[in-house]
Amino acid sequence: MKLKHILSADQFLDLGLQQELFALAAEMEKSNHGGKVPTSLAGKVIACMFFEPSTRTRLSFETSVLKLGGSVIGTENAAISSSAVKGETLEDTIRIISGYADGIVMRHPEEGAAKRAAAVSPVPIVNAGDGKGEHPTQALLDMFTVKKELGRLDNLNIAMIGDLLYGRTVHSLLPLLSLYQKNKFYFVSPDKLRMPEKFKDILKEKNVEFEELENFEGILDKIDVVYMTRVQKERFASHEEYERLKDCYVINSAVLEKLKKDSIILHPLPRVNEIAPEVDADVRAAYFRQARNGLFMRMALLHYLLGK
Ligand code: CP
Repeated sequence: MKLKHILSADQFLDLGLQQELFALAAEMEKSNHGGKVPTSLAGKVIACMFFEPSTRTRLSFETSVLKLGGSVIGTENAAISSSAVKGETLEDTIRIISGYADGIVMRHPEEGAAKRAAAVSPVPIVNAGDGKGEHPTQALLDMFTVKKELGRLDNLNIAMIGDLLYGRTVHSLLPLLSLYQKNKFYFVSPDKLRMPEKFKDILKEKNVEFEELENFEGILDKIDVVYMTRVQKERFASHEEYERLKDCYVINSAVLEKLKKDSIILHPLPRVNEIAPEVDADVRAAYFRQARNGLFMRMALLHYLLGK
């Protein structure tokens, strides 16, 4: 059955659907190179409502809409330039925009905001990040990247490093990667930023192996996928706590020396200090390729959801 909204990675647990989307994203990449992108959104208007800052997600969605022949409306900073400032509820804002647009891509600081929007929206809602909740389209582009870079999604040692408590990208990626055989997870975080229990429970139920660690020194030679995350200043109530934890993990050339030769380093970006610029030239640094893949996966998702 076709999806109406994209709200959670849990909607993509079907491996057949994943394969379909990976193939579609690869097709979008190929047609983009050849200058023959399908105009499946022709005549459609997509609203991009971002109540939190974004570079990659907003601009890759907007580019996707334009490449597929659609038009974009919206606001890059809905938190200060939409009627939310005057006290309008999210529900009312969505009711109004859904009268203008054929689909709404939204980012919001509150967990569950996309689900609230979907509950009142007659047009598709795409969750482009809801607070510390989820970021499902990021997870799909991450999966697409792992498959492209390593040729497989199974038999992997995966280290998720950094802010695993508030990091919505890892919250969406974990259920998808845990579907594949013989994947083992290493959760590397300070005690205060550990992976929430509900995600570890998913792994326990499926007998998927995982370990929790406070440093990555001992595992670098066996990791296939390093998934770095930013310690997110905007999620901390205490500035002191943020300052204490912000630089707890850094990938630099000394770390590269010890890291498995055929591994990849991913990061949803933006990075702050957690990956040193000297790492960028290493072939294992896949994060800029990953961001580029976001365009193709989002083209695929919009085509799938709203295409003619
Ligand atoms: N990865 C990601 O969500 O980046 P932006 O915050 O720039 O959209």
